[in-house]
Amino acid sequence: MAVTLITNIRQLAGVRNESRLLHGKELAQLPVIDNAYLLIEEGLIADYGPMTELQTSKLKPRVNIDATGQFILPAWCDSHTHLVYPASREAEFIDKINGLSYAEIAAKGGGILNSANKLAQASEGELFNSAWKRLKEITKMGTGAVEIKSGYGLTVEGELKMLRVIRKLKEKSDLSIKATFLGAHTYPVAYRDNHQAYIDLIINEMLPVIAKEKLADYIDVFCETGFFSPEETETIARAGMRYGLKPKLHVNQLNSIGGIEAGLKLNALSLDHLETLTEKDIKLLAMDGDTVATLLPTAAFFLRMPFQPARKLIDSGCAVALATDFNPGSSPSGNMNLVVAMSCIQMRMLPEEAINAATINGAYAMELQDKLGSITIGKKANIIFTKTIPSLAYLPYAFGTDLIDKVMIGGKMA
Ligand code: NIG
Ligand code: FE
Repeated sequence: MAVTLITNIRQLAGVRNESRLLHGKELAQLPVIDNAYLLIEEGLIADYGPMTELQTSKLKPRVNIDATGQFILPAWCDSHTHLVYPASREAEFIDKINGLSYAEIAAKGGGILNSANKLAQASEGELFNSAWKRLKEITKMGTGAVEIKSGYGLTVEGELKMLRVIRKLKEKSDLSIKATFLGAHTYPVAYRDNHQAYIDLIINEMLPVIAKEKLADYIDVFCETGFFSPEETETIARAGMRYGLKPKLHVNQLNSIGGIEAGLKLNALSLDHLETLTEKDIKLLAMDGDTVATLLPTAAFFLRMPFQPARKLIDSGCAVALATDFNPGSSPSGNMNLVVAMSCIQMRMLPEEAINAATINGAYAMELQDKLGSITIGKKANIIFTKTIPSLAYLPYAFGTDLIDKVMIGGKMA
């Protein structure tokens, strides 16, 4: 049996006997053990505790890792990405610098439609290879679980192609991966004047195949002015729910148009983005106990938008998670360390709140809370070893510095 014993850990963070979704004030509580050990057997966390309680005589033959001076925390759980995409879009980045807005770029055929045109030309193999590189890159940056959306296909073949690539990533990667069907990302040009026909295509042509081939875990809709209305969002999400796909929805990125109400009515697993929230939206989110409010600060940063009101959400009692939104248009970075730093620096989240939101609450937003997101006996050994740092708060403080020494995924060094 493969056994690894990690000793002399300066601080082991995120230790929990049992995990639950953290709301409001609970987010500030990050349980730690100073001068700790961590035992891993067959890729799972088998034991942990203070060094003073370690009884090595009882242990089986093992690999020893000395973590003197290092902090260990659960690997990041990135619950919202679009990391399967055909090409980068830095020309639009220049357009943005020159003053065009995200909506203006979309209106002139850029944005999601630009990616959809390129995706139609790309083979499954090409898409897989570029996504595989991105997975490797985010693993090195400490991500151990990731949700990936379709949504650059926008045709039956295109959406299935993307979802098959995600399935192949699931099969080949050691990361825990969840797939979300986002056929309702935008209306393709051919359906610009006939929205109902595209909704019918999603419901009658895409969803039945996706369900039959078990290609998705969740359904997503971009609920936004100029994209899908709350009513359309509800229709599409309910169609997915009939096949067992829970909704994880893009809402309130640019406008507050009723996405929160629609999402809560659908009992969405998570409502994501949330740059633009009214007081009423925040109240509604806080009243709901189960739906995770997933904030994507690097998307706000990249689009030069106001950051999500994390303080208000947490102080109202919401369950907040953090994710990268890794995609070529609004967040061309899958770096969760940067997301955590930005959340502390710009959204006034405490380091403990940000770490919890990026680990255990992120795991909840992918229904992986029984397997990941904390240092708990029986959970998968997905962990980050930091370099020698003075404290955990140093991680977001020294933003942009690579402070990860190594990453372990399922008990193996990545
Ligand atoms: O989450 N807002 C909708 N979708 C993505 C952006 C997609 C793109 O621009 O390619 C997002 O920001
Ligand atoms: Fe997104």
